[in-house]
Order: sequence, then C-alpha cells, then structure tokens
Amino acid sequence: MSDHEFVSHFDDAVRIDADEAPTGIDETTLAEMRELAGRYPDSRSALMPMLHLVQSVDGRVSDAGVRACAEILGISTAQVNGVATFYTMFKRRPGGKQHIGVCTTALCAVLGGDILLDHVERRLGIGEGETTPDGMFSLERLECNAACDFAPIMTVNWEFMDNMTPDKADRLLDELAAGDVVRTPRGAPNPRGRAAAPVLAGFDDGRADEGPSAGESSLRGVECAREHGWSAPAEPALGPSSGEREAR
Ligand code: FES
Repeated sequence: MSDHEFVSHFDDAVRIDADEAPTGIDETTLAEMRELAGRYPDSRSALMPMLHLVQSVDGRVSDAGVRACAEILGISTAQVNGVATFYTMFKRRPGGKQHIGVCTTALCAVLGGDILLDHVERRLGIGEGETTPDGMFSLERLECNAACDFAPIMTVNWEFMDNMTPDKADRLLDELAAGDVVRTPRGAPNPRGRAAAPVLAGFDDGRADEGPSAGESSLRGVECAREHGWSAPAEPALGPSSGEREAR
C-alpha cells in the first residue's frame, strides 16, 4: 500500500443510528412517499416531507426509511443522510411519546429560558437530546421558534406553551405524564403527539384552524393602531420593470 492510499475506518465506527428497532414502513407508507414525490416538479424537493413521514412511522429517521427515500427519489443514501443529519427536527434515535422543547435563544434566555431548561432537565432526570427510560419524554434545547412575544416558551410535540415558568412546567409535565388532555394557548387544543409528523409531511388532518392562531401579545400592535386610527402608508407606485423598459 502506498503512503497516499486512503484507508477508511468507518467500518469500525459506531453508527449513529445503530438502533435495531424494526421498521414500520409498509406498502401504505411507500405509496404515501411516492405521492409526496409526485407533488413536486423536481421529486427531490419531497425529501424533507418524506423524512417527516418516515419519522411519523418509525419514531425516528430509520435506515429503512433512508433507503426508501433514496430509492424513490433516485438519489444516494448519503444524500438522504446529509439532509436527515443537518436538520435538528429529524431524529436518528426514537424520541419520547411527548417531545419537549425549551427555547434558550436571546429573548427566551433573558426571560428565564436557561433556568427553565435546567429545571426541566432536573425534573425529568435527563439532559437535552435524551429520552426518559420509560420512553415518555424526550427533551430538546430549541433555537428561536418565532414566538418571542410569549417568551420564554416550551413546546410539546411542536405546539407552543407560552410564558412558561418552572412551576407551570411542573404542572404541564404532571398532566402529560398522567395522560391528561393538555390545552395549548394557541393552536390545536390537544397536542397531536407523534401524529403531528404526518401533518408536517403534508397530509392535512383538518385541524389547522382549531384554536386561536394568534395571542394577545401578537395582536397588541394591531389593536393600538386601530385605537389611534393608524394605517400603513400607501405603497408607492412602481415604475416599469427593466424587462418592460427594454420592450419599449
Ligand atoms: S427567542 Fe424564544 S421564541 Fe424567539
């Protein structure tokens, strides 16, 4: 072997998705994946929805799911893995039945996001990225979820829980552990759990308009403008586009 010959040690490495859980991907799932692929002019654009679908079936992006995506889209498993490992919403290990997120980006951090995350970690006995031994809860540190007007926020299966405190988090976790119906201040009244994943994949469950979509904090500026009779300035008239000018 020459000094410059490449030697791979990946065969010896522990694979990040070394989970042996069987896949639930069946003919129905494959048909749904093909349907997603057919929705886009370039079928490859369907990869992220397809990965959400895989996750809804297997609780993670499984090897079988990666292979199915690659086969349907005509791309390599390395390309599928590249996307699946880039986005944090795609998990390579099974998450909990209730996936908890705590935002610690700027505004949530200023209003107690880090304290909240620390509290939830101690309460559940797990760190971020981990799942409780009974499989009930998994925990994730979130980047800004564009809900800063309700900081600090937690999410339960991607539904917002606004203006959280450690005490409110304790009550929420107790309710979830007891299997109680949990009401979100905005969005669907009861978080969908893993059932949210097919919705993210693009299969409508008809619940998009359940519950209020905007909270009081978000609407305060609109109300203030109405009270004062303010309105946005009229848009300036646009001149002809460069293409229109050239055509003259
Ligand atoms: S900083 Fe937490 S939602 Fe924006």
